[in-house]
Amino acid sequence: MGAVGGAGIVADGRPLRRLPRIGGHEAFVRPYKRVDRTEQASPRKGPVVAAKPVVKRLVVLVSGSGTNLQALLDAIAASGAEAFGAEIVAVGADRDGIEGLARAERAGVPTFVRRIEDHGTREEWDAALTEAVAAWEPDLVVSAGFMKILGKEFLARFGGRIVNTHPALLPSFPGAHGVRDALAYGVKVTGCTVHFVDDGVDTGPIIAQRAVEIRDEDDESALHERIKEVERRLLVEVVGRLARHGHRIEGRKVVIQ
Ligand code: GRF
Repeated sequence: MGAVGGAGIVADGRPLRRLPRIGGHEAFVRPYKRVDRTEQASPRKGPVVAAKPVVKRLVVLVSGSGTNLQALLDAIAASGAEAFGAEIVAVGADRDGIEGLARAERAGVPTFVRRIEDHGTREEWDAALTEAVAAWEPDLVVSAGFMKILGKEFLARFGGRIVNTHPALLPSFPGAHGVRDALAYGVKVTGCTVHFVDDGVDTGPIIAQRAVEIRDEDDESALHERIKEVERRLLVEVVGRLARHGHRIEGRKVVIQ
C-alpha cells in the first residue's frame, strides 16, 4: 500500500517516527514542527522576539471547476495564512483551460499543467507530475476534484500526506461516479469523505465524513451540488486542522493531534 505502508523514511527525506504496533498495524507519525506562539527570548539572552507561527505549504491538484480549491483560497484569505495554518503555494492540473486554474490565477497562485497526452507512458506522466509538485516542497498535497489516479512514484514521494475529497460515504461508491452510483443504488443517505490517498481507488484511511440526505426528486447534478456545499466546508475544516495540529495514521485510523 503506497500511502502509509512499510517504509520508515519517505523519499523527501523527512523521517517518520515509528509508533508501537496497534491492533497488529504498523503506525508512523510525522512530527510536525511546533512553534510556541508565546515563546520569547529571555532577557539575559537578548531582545524579546516572538516566534513566527509555522505556515504549512499546500499544493492543490484540480481537474475541473475548482470550487473546493476556491473554498480553501477563501478560507485562507479570510483568516490569514498564519491563523489558518497553511497557504496554497501552487495549483496543478492534468488539463488546460479549466476554471480551477483560472481561480488560482485570479488569486495570484502559481499554476502548472501536466497532461497525460504529452508523455509517452503513464509512468512518465506520473514522474513529471511528481517533480512538478515536489518543486513546491509541499507539506500536504490536496487532490480537490483531481480526476486522475496518482501513480507509484507520486505515492512514494508524498504518501501519507495526500488528501483527497470524494462525493460519497466511502467505502460505499468509490470511483469517478460516486454520486451517480449512490443514486442508482437507491440509498437514502450519501455524503462526502475526506481521506488520505493510498494505492487503491478511494481506499485510503478516512479523515472525516459528512452525511447528505437524498431527496426523491434528486438527479445527479442536484445531488452533487448539495454534496459539494457540505464537502467544501469539510475540506476546509480538515485541511486547516491537519495543518495546525499534524496527524498520525494508525493502521486505518487517522488521528489529528
Ligand atoms: C467534488 O465533488 C469532488 O469530490 C469530485 O469532483 C468534485 C470537484 O468539484 N471528485 P470542484 O472542481 O472542486 O468544483
